Amino acid sequence: MKSAVYPGSFDPATNGHLDIIKRASKIVDKLYVAVLDNPSKTPLFTVGERVAQLKEILKDHDNIEVRSFSGLLVDFARSVNSNIIVRGLRGVTDFSYEFQMALSNRSLDSDIETLFISADTQYLFFSSSQVKEIAYFKGNIDNMVPDIIKTELLKKLENM
Ligand code: PNS
Repeated sequence: MKSAVYPGSFDPATNGHLDIIKRASKIVDKLYVAVLDNPSKTPLFTVGERVAQLKEILKDHDNIEVRSFSGLLVDFARSVNSNIIVRGLRGVTDFSYEFQMALSNRSLDSDIETLFISADTQYLFFSSSQVKEIAYFKGNIDNMVPDIIKTELLKKLENM
């Protein structure tokens, strides 16, 4: 069974992430969506909230499993017997960071390959950080995130 890991902070998950998740899930038997639990960062959503959001959004996809991870990504990939890491590319600005990360992961475990999937053109222009900023200033994020994320984001920002 061929599996892959799609890691990220997902703070919050965007339609761009979901596009990559759906594309990746069509080329492997099983896709692990791995949500980073990094205590040194202060995300807007807790890791529990991010995992719950993704589980709800992806509940109808039988071959996708949402998990949290901490520590090294290659260790998580090994723990689920996967040797493929999926990353999305929005353009050349993503490339140098992503290429460096792919090489770091390969130096940590030479059996692990990083597979880059290009995002659809409608998702090229925004990131989780931009979604948060636009929502903070009451801009329209309807086309950028699923409804559940929009609702939770607005609730979270209201209580800040
Ligand atoms: O969505 P992001 O924030 O760009 O995802 C970054 C992520 C989670 C993939 C990356 O920070 C990561 O893999 N962190 C785990 C620590 C690790 O393995 N570091 C070595 C590779 S750079």
